[in-house]
Amino acid sequence: MNRKSMVRSAIRKKPLVIPSHVAIVPDGNGRWAEKHRLPRVAGHNAGIENMHRLLQYIDQYPIKYLTLYGFSTENWGRPEDEVKGLFGLVEEFIQDHINEIHAKNMRLRHLGRLDELPAGLQRAVNSAASLTRDNTGMTLSVAFNYGGKREIVDAVRRLIADGIAPEKIDENVFEGYLYTAGLPGVDLLIRTGDELRLSNFLIWQTAYSEYYFAKVLWPDFSREDFDNALSSYSRRQRRFGRLQTQQEKC
Ligand code: IPE
Ligand code: MG
Repeated sequence: MNRKSMVRSAIRKKPLVIPSHVAIVPDGNGRWAEKHRLPRVAGHNAGIENMHRLLQYIDQYPIKYLTLYGFSTENWGRPEDEVKGLFGLVEEFIQDHINEIHAKNMRLRHLGRLDELPAGLQRAVNSAASLTRDNTGMTLSVAFNYGGKREIVDAVRRLIADGIAPEKIDENVFEGYLYTAGLPGVDLLIRTGDELRLSNFLIWQTAYSEYYFAKVLWPDFSREDFDNALSSYSRRQRRFGRLQTQQEKC
């Protein structure tokens, strides 16, 4: 064994540090479809199927919160058939798999403006959220018709509507007005599809996240890719602006 592979295997043997909150930007469905000479909606279908496959795997880790970016406020600018196709796929997915999600004790949450989505999708989301509301396993939050800037604007509007006095507003109070109220900050943010940006996703909640970018297109993102993200996370030192403690140095 040469030095490089010894170092690699020593790193692998280090115990994994499991993040409490993982957020994923599953990018690359369109390019995957193009690569396979399929329509873009087929790429979204493959992406949703991959999400389903991975969920079973991620659920084996003690990850408490998983937050997925499904549709952004900017995605309305895409062709109508793609947008409608995606809405249909998500509605179908919820209907087909909500019992399975419930049986796994997962809680489903929606982040974003639900009232702007088609009635059928709203119904599916609302009934899935109320069915799983008291579950105590992983909280699966789906950001759908979500924008980070819009989330902050919506929070400010509700703060004002509630008549909260300026001196009563601090970071904790403000967080309680975000769509993500009750969720902790994101520990690990994963983005696939070889794009190095946040795209208006959880801009408040990722202030101190660790970022992991993968080149692989989302429908091809495997269990091994997920594990690579976890081991990369495990090797990082999170100091939150402080200095390394003596204990951490040992
Ligand atoms: C991500 O895949 C899924 C959504 C934004 C809904 P894309 O559709 O952005 O895929 P690319 O970037 O065009 O490959
Ligand atoms: Mg994209």
